[in-house]
Parts: sequence; structure tokens; C-alpha cells
Amino acid sequence: MGSIKLLLLVIAITASSLNAGAEAFALSPHFYGHSCPRALDIVRSVVARAVDREPRMAASLLRLHFHDCFVKGCDASLLLDSNGPIVSEKGSKANKNSARGFEVIDEIKAALERECPGTVSCADILALAARDSTVLAGGPDWEVALGRRDSLGASLSGSNNNIPAPNNTLQTIITKFKLQGLDIVDLVALSGSHTIGLSRCTSFRQRLYDQTGHGEADASLEKGYSWQLRSRCPPSGGDDNLFPLDLVSPARFDNSYYKNVVAGKGLLNSDQVLFTRSPETMALVRLYADDSGLFFDHFAKSMIKMGNISPLTGPNGEIRKNCRKIN
Ligand code: HEM
Repeated sequence: MGSIKLLLLVIAITASSLNAGAEAFALSPHFYGHSCPRALDIVRSVVARAVDREPRMAASLLRLHFHDCFVKGCDASLLLDSNGPIVSEKGSKANKNSARGFEVIDEIKAALERECPGTVSCADILALAARDSTVLAGGPDWEVALGRRDSLGASLSGSNNNIPAPNNTLQTIITKFKLQGLDIVDLVALSGSHTIGLSRCTSFRQRLYDQTGHGEADASLEKGYSWQLRSRCPPSGGDDNLFPLDLVSPARFDNSYYKNVVAGKGLLNSDQVLFTRSPETMALVRLYADDSGLFFDHFAKSMIKMGNISPLTGPNGEIRKNCRKIN
């Protein structure tokens, strides 16, 4: 065999074995089919009980998956408590006094450890809980690919820098999504998560007041809505007063979020700028406001895409026994 042919053969064999390697570690909906066949039912039943106790929990669990995936990928780094060299992401700007639902994740993990110890990752629990929460709130369903493993560390700086803030410009938010491999359709569709859940006054106060503390700062806010918000979100104090992100149907996963945004009743600045700062995002907001089927379809696809951000697979990471600490 000529040396060129031999070289080509070696290249072909190497390429195909690398490919096989990638496939062996690809996420799959059937990942726990043999190792923990009841895993999905267990997650669903604990989530259902938690949402039954408190409907807001659906929103809180959905958000946890987002805040996990945007920091070092979907690896449950968000769930680690501070311990030794680990500085928890729970203390970041986006999470402090805000991210919640960690006890429900603990409850799911404990149930899974009883059923099949050391098998189901915390990162997969977050992905499943986000899907189950969406469905329970009336939103779309999708198949969750599984096999993510859990990180051995956390990144407070990643959490501070990567997760968009409500007062970021649209351009900054677009860039933060792009850095995760998510495009403008993903941004507008996933922002539709704000059809459920609550926000603290402190997350949108700057929109309500100008420098004098009287007139409003943000002209895109509908007047009556702005007045309503100001009555319970004063210029100072009341930081933790809670407001629905979707004033029309706060606990129902539907497309009213987009209708609100079109009407100048998006709660966060980051919601409203989707309609006021770019013709492309504006067109998508209108589309979803008019067609909830299209929103559901895009939302499900974008959630799958978000859930695929840099998972740890194969020999990387571990399956934590307790989601709050490394083994
Ligand atoms: C586009 C950039 C985004 C920004 C700037 C943003 C910002 C925020 C803020 C400030 C809150 C209120 C937090 C508080 O006051 O305690 C919130 C709540 C929430 N966010 Fe986002 N978010 C964004 C995208 C997303 C995405 C992509 C998802 C999910 C895929 C999501 C899901 C949620 C949910 C469900 C809540 C309510 C949580 C609860 O009630 O516990 N957000 N978001």
C-alpha cells in the first residue's frame, strides 16, 4: 500500500473512532432506561407535588436550569454550596435572594438515591424538572436528552458575568446568549419563560422613577401599569416586594407575556427592549403574541438547545450523591 493510501486509511480510522467516541457520550432520552427505569416518573411526581404545594415553584425550577446552563454548561454547578475551595454560585448577582427551589431538587435527588443510588445526575434532574414544570404550568412538552454529569466545581464569576441582568442593553443580552451558542430566536422564545413566576421590585425599580424620584424614567412603560407598579415598588424600600412577570396569567404558561410586551406591559427592562430596540426581536415578539402554537414549538426547541450547552459526559465530572456538594 502506498504511503499516501496508508495515511488516508489511518486518518479515516481515527476520524471514525473519534466519531464513535462522540456518539458513545451523546445525550440520549433513554440514558437511564436500564440503570434507573423509573427516574423520569420519580422526578415528575416530586415536581408535581411541589408545584401543587406552591404554583410558583414551576417558574423557580425552570429558571434554575437556565442559571445552571449559562455557567460552565448544564453541569449542576449552580447547586453546589460553598465549601472549602468552592464558592457557591448561589451568591451571585443573579441568584442571591432570588434563585429558589433548591429544596425541591434535594427532595428529587433523595428519592432517586433511594431508587438507584449514584446513578442520576443533578444536572439531568435540573433539565427534567424544567421540562416537567413547563408542562405542569400548561406549556409545551419535549423529550429531554439525558446523560449529563455533575461538575466538580462552581464559578461565581461565570454566574456574575454570563447570566443576563434585567438592566443590560439588548445588545449585551444578545451577546450573552450568543456566547452560549443561542441565537435571537432562542432569546425571544426563552424570554417567554417570563409568562410564569415573580420578580422582586429591585429588579425593575429603575424603570419606574426619574432622577427626582417622581416622574417615570422609562417611556415605553404603559402609564396605568407603571402607576400600579409604583404603588408597591416605592423609590426606596420594598426591595423584595413581589410582582408577577405576566400580570394577565401569572401561573399559566401561555403567550400572554408577548401580548403584554406589545402593550408596553413587560415587567423587566429586558422584556420590554425585545419590542423596542430591534426590528428582528420585535417581529418575533409579534409572531409569538399572535401564535401561541409557534411560541410553544420554538420554546421547546430552544429549551433543548439550552439543555445541550457543554454537558459533562463520559469520564468527565461525577454523579453527585448530594447535589449541594461534590462526592
Ligand atoms: C433574557 C434575559 C433574562 C433576564 C435579564 C432575566 C431576568 C430575570 C429577573 C430579573 C427575574 C426576577 C428575579 C427576581 O427579582 O428575584 C427573572 C425571573 C424569572 N426568569 Fe428570567 N431572565 C432572562 C431570561 C430567562 C430565561 C432564558 C429563562 C428560562 C429559560 C428565565 C426564567 C425565569 C423565570 C421562570 C423567572 C421567575 C422565577 C420565580 O418566580 O422564581 N428567564 N428573570
